Formats: sequence, structure tokens, C-alpha cells
Amino acid sequence: MEKIVLLIFSAVLLFSDESAVSKCNECHANFLAPPYKKVYKHYLLKYSSKARVQKAMIDFLKAPSEKKSAMSKGLKKRFNPDEHLVFDTTTIDKAVRDIIEQEDIIKRFKKIP
Ligand code: HEC
Repeated sequence: MEKIVLLIFSAVLLFSDESAVSKCNECHANFLAPPYKKVYKHYLLKYSSKARVQKAMIDFLKAPSEKKSAMSKGLKKRFNPDEHLVFDTTTIDKAVRDIIEQEDIIKRFKKIP
């Protein structure tokens, strides 16, 4: 019995872990929002390091505002950063970590032979 409970519990954990960034994919992978590559590029240009990018993204997502936005003027005009959805802290932390790992420029360079 305990094994079954444990199994269900870990499945739920696994599922919720996966769904952190899938909540973002709804827009960011569907042309309703700039793709992660573009978002990451703007953050990297503004904040230079991975750690600072992570901090700034989390900061923005916890309380979205145009002032905190790292996107270009054109993108800010087209999409309003003030109206970005707010998620719970756990989702934000996990999703941002996933996006940064996925878009990591150093890793991309390493793939080039
Ligand atoms: C309902 C659609 C939608 C969902 C869901 C969504 N986003 Fe966004 N996101 C947008 C749009 C539109 C923009 C461009 C406007 C802006 O900059 O806020 C954006 C911009 C951003 C930016 C750049 C913000 C800036 O202006 O500097 C980040 C970072 C971001 N999203 C992360 C996330 C993460 C992480 C998630 C999931 C937890 C997520 N988004 C879910 C629509 C969405």
C-alpha cells in the first residue's frame, strides 16, 4: 500500500515539476509571446551573467512592470509587460531555471564542433 502511495506521490511531483515551464509554453512556444530565445537574449544583453539574468527574470515575474522589463521598446509596445501573468513562486523559480538552462549560450557554443 505504501509503495502505491509513494508511487502516486512521486508521479504527482514529477508531473508538477514538468508543468512549471509548460505553463509558460502556452504563450512562449505558441507565438502569443516572444520565444524564450528572444527573451533570454534581451536579458543576457542587459544583465551579462547567468546569475544576474536569473535574478532579474524572477524579479520581473513576481511583480511584472514595464520598468523592470528587459525587452526592446518595440516589444514593450506590442505586448504590455505590465500585464504579464503572475505565477506562484515555486513555478516562477522552476520555470526560470529551466529556461536559462535551455537557452544557455555557453552550452550552445559547445554543441558547435
Ligand atoms: C498568457 C501568456 C503568457 C504566459 C502563460 C507566460 N508569458 Fe511570459 N510573456 C508573455 C508576453 C506577451 C510577454 C511579452 C511582454 C512582456 O515583456 O511582458 C512575456 C514576457 C516574458 C518575459 C520577459 C519580460 C520582460 O518584459 O522583461 C519573461 C522573463 C517571461 N515572459 C517569462 C515567463 C515565464 C517563466 C512563464 C511561465 C511561468 C511565462 N512567461 C508565462 C506572455 C506569457
